Amino acid sequence: MERIISPSILAADFGDLKSECEMINQSDAQWVHVDVMDGVFVPNISFGFPVIEAVRKHCKKMMDVHIMIVNPGNYVKRFAVAGAGMLTFHLEATDDPSSVIRMIRQEGMMAGITINPDIAVAELRPYIAEVDMVLLMSVFAGYGGQQFITDTYDRIRELKKIIDELNPNCRIQIDGGVSASNARALYDCGANVLVAGSSVFKAPDPKSMIRELLTA
Ligand code: DX5
Ligand code: ZN
Repeated sequence: MERIISPSILAADFGDLKSECEMINQSDAQWVHVDVMDGVFVPNISFGFPVIEAVRKHCKKMMDVHIMIVNPGNYVKRFAVAGAGMLTFHLEATDDPSSVIRMIRQEGMMAGITINPDIAVAELRPYIAEVDMVLLMSVFAGYGGQQFITDTYDRIRELKKIIDELNPNCRIQIDGGVSASNARALYDCGANVLVAGSSVFKAPDPKSMIRELLTA
């Protein structure tokens, strides 16, 4: 499956968001990753709809929105209106993942589901056939700039087996601590979408870092 890089805007300079979006437009990144945190599901608050709409306005790439919020179903329509192309919610945040997935599709978006590193991969099994992407968090959701958790490699291999069996077109995304030093190993385990915040935006040359991640 084609590799995809999704730079996480959370690590961008919010005082100069337009230039950061233009950098992504000029880069080889296919998607842009947008992290929404509500201060309840995770102990941090990032940003909401006005910022997402600004990213939509300036960034031409597919908006890959990762929602770290409780009651994800309540906001599906708002994210669609704000311009999300993919909406990924946490399994832990809802009692009825299937209905959230249905709502996302009804709004014309691709549907993603994700789990934190302390949730067993097997818990995703009932939803694999219904989603376009599974995001395995490689840090605990809540902050950028954390250290990559190496258990992730085994978790990707385990997920890849389930995906090959139930929905081979389903993408595997990894988010947290992704850098040029682990990208190749992540692809080798079966990942095909890498989110990168700090490693891209703190790099001296973000566009060449994106290329490096894509061709690792
Ligand atoms: C963490 C977010 C990530 C974050 C990744 O909760 O989901 O998308 O921006 O940042 P880095 O790449 O710096 O770990
Ligand atoms: Zn994220």
